[in-house]
Amino acid sequence: MAAFRTLDDIGDIAGKVALVRVDLNLPMKDGSASDVTRVEAARPTILELCEKGAKVLLLAHFGRPKGQRSSVLSTSMVVGDVEGVLGKELMFIPEVSGPVVEQSIGILSNGDVGLLDNVRFWPGEEANDPDFAKAIAAHGDLFVNDAFSAAHRAHATTEGLAHYLPAYAGRAMEAELKALDAALGNPETPVAAVVGGAKVSSKLDVLTNLVGKVQHLIIGGGMANTFLAARGVDVGKSLCEHDLTDTANKIMDEADHAGCTVHLPYDVVVAKEFAANPASLRTCNVHEVAENEMILDIGPQAVEALADVLKTCRTLVWNGPLGAFETEPFDEATVALAKTAGALTQDGSLVSVAGGGDTVAALAHAGVKDDFTFVSTAGGAFLEWMEGKTLPGVAALSS
Ligand code: 3PG
Repeated sequence: MAAFRTLDDIGDIAGKVALVRVDLNLPMKDGSASDVTRVEAARPTILELCEKGAKVLLLAHFGRPKGQRSSVLSTSMVVGDVEGVLGKELMFIPEVSGPVVEQSIGILSNGDVGLLDNVRFWPGEEANDPDFAKAIAAHGDLFVNDAFSAAHRAHATTEGLAHYLPAYAGRAMEAELKALDAALGNPETPVAAVVGGAKVSSKLDVLTNLVGKVQHLIIGGGMANTFLAARGVDVGKSLCEHDLTDTANKIMDEADHAGCTVHLPYDVVVAKEFAANPASLRTCNVHEVAENEMILDIGPQAVEALADVLKTCRTLVWNGPLGAFETEPFDEATVALAKTAGALTQDGSLVSVAGGGDTVAALAHAGVKDDFTFVSTAGGAFLEWMEGKTLPGVAALSS
């Protein structure tokens, strides 16, 4: 892992203006955030900078306004949510640069926090326009990036600012980078990866990267059906990308060459219709799926076998559920294996890192989110990291 500066390297910042990139792209329901995990992740950094006497200016995007102002995508929408998590008042500043920002900084006391408006209201953000970045940088003395979940974007406030101000990783960014390095950068072996989710097509690069890095690749979710079909299994009317069977075979060949064992289920939970607790529910061998049935979860024998695999491993990286976990009882395999991983982690035999969209919800549903070594707040950034890509926002911190 390339070296990067953290808040430990920051020195005396009393009275200085810290521009802090956070991810406030929060899911909303009825006018307020339905999940504030990302704000909680940024809280230690913000409060540490406040305690050190900085004037903290938060930079964030919210949705995809495509370079235009939009009242519903103003970061003012989340002021209350952020104040609730921080336990302090924010000054909302409806610009990101210019006289309004300068005047606001004049009003803020040391240790106060201001929230600038949605950086994506300006086309310069996504274009990573140097002039836009410089105009923002002109207001600050230092740049702290605490938004790992936006680090896959080479935008002005995720990447550009690092070129114009002394740049530091915030505490959440630091924790993410250390955890990810422990999982795939420099892990204790054997390493297992669980990759689930609906479609192989959305995770091709992830799978291709992982077969060269892990000793056990556990495939679940709809993706497993495509791999099963590639192995000649009739998956009935299951979700399956039949056009990707060659690709699936290629991945399995590459895994063979790299010494990576690909684990596919040999028993599955099927039903004739996708609904909660359907009358047609049954568990069967993968070779016994009827034409009018679909695979909706992996079966209990497969879960037991996978639990045994995890017991032999030292590191686990998890992305995506094993079944259609939002609908009962197709959450059972995900819950059972997540519980095993959580228990092994708590026993000290496994380093477990999970992330990406549905994964966090699945682990929370299994009640083991806090038992994992690290659960990333990132979606797309976590996936790109699993693909082995360099994230521009991270690279800028280490240059
Ligand atoms: C996310 O929600 O995953 C991040 O905030 C990135 O958002 P984006 O996909 O709109 O860049």
